[in-house]
Amino acid sequence: MWLPLFLDPLPQLLECTRLGLPPTLRAIWADPWLLFHPQKLRNIFMAGFWVVFGPGLDENAAPAKRRLVTPYAHGVVLEIGAGHGHSLQYFDRDKVTKYVAVEPNEDMYPGLRKSIAQAGFSEADGTALILPFGAHEVDRIADVVGEHQVDTIISFLTLCSVPNSKQVIPKLCLTLLKSPGGTLLMYEHCLSPVWSSRLYQRIWSPIWSLAWNGCRLDRDTPKWVEQVPWSERYVGKEEGMPDWHLFYRAVGRYVL
Ligand SMILES: C[S@@+](CC[C@H](N)C(=O)[O-])C[C@H]1O[C@@H](n2cnc3c(N)ncnc32)[C@H](O)[C@@H]1O
Repeated sequence: MWLPLFLDPLPQLLECTRLGLPPTLRAIWADPWLLFHPQKLRNIFMAGFWVVFGPGLDENAAPAKRRLVTPYAHGVVLEIGAGHGHSLQYFDRDKVTKYVAVEPNEDMYPGLRKSIAQAGFSEADGTALILPFGAHEVDRIADVVGEHQVDTIISFLTLCSVPNSKQVIPKLCLTLLKSPGGTLLMYEHCLSPVWSSRLYQRIWSPIWSLAWNGCRLDRDTPKWVEQVPWSERYVGKEEGMPDWHLFYRAVGRYVL
């Protein structure tokens, strides 16, 4: 269906509402006290539609993710906003010693645990670990994994949802990554380079973030990543992605 650019997010919003609402209402029916826990309801809503949305988004992103992950994810890999663990299928298992998933939404864990097992990692033998934290809780993450112990951080479609991501990105990378050599692999939708699209992204962000659990369309993530003094970087955008797209996606590999 052709829509004016401004209305681009509308079909996705309607579709995620159609998918997310029934499990959310069922959960409230089973436990009405959930009405007093809006964040839990947002988690259930998001997990409800992610089961259907996630695989499609992952398939579209597969070429970009494969180019980033297969050759460059190595050693201890920490993924923020792991979701259902879609990135695991791109790992070269011989290069990755441990997978740490930082995922605050426990309703994502069944899918995440399935992907962990399919990729040959295990929580029981210590090759996988799930941390129920937000990426902004850097000190809590560091308490568990240690400072400068991570070889690779993966952020795929997550920094858009992390509160204060401008401040969090440098803290996360400079606290957790090994130096030198620690690597950030990023695939994120972010602020478009076109001013009219930026305006539309800013208008949509408040309502979008309600449905998508805090995700905003107007985060200038590639600019904020540059606050870290990287020694090497490859920065680009998803192949074929027009600059005006409201889900403009940046791709990057950064090395300390
Ligand atoms: C759009 S999904 C992407 C999932 C996965 N990275 C992928 O590409 O398939 C965003 C994920 O970020 C998680 N998330 C939301 N807020 C977060 C935060 N503050 N820190 C870490 N993850 C967060 C959500 O629970 C969700 O799993």
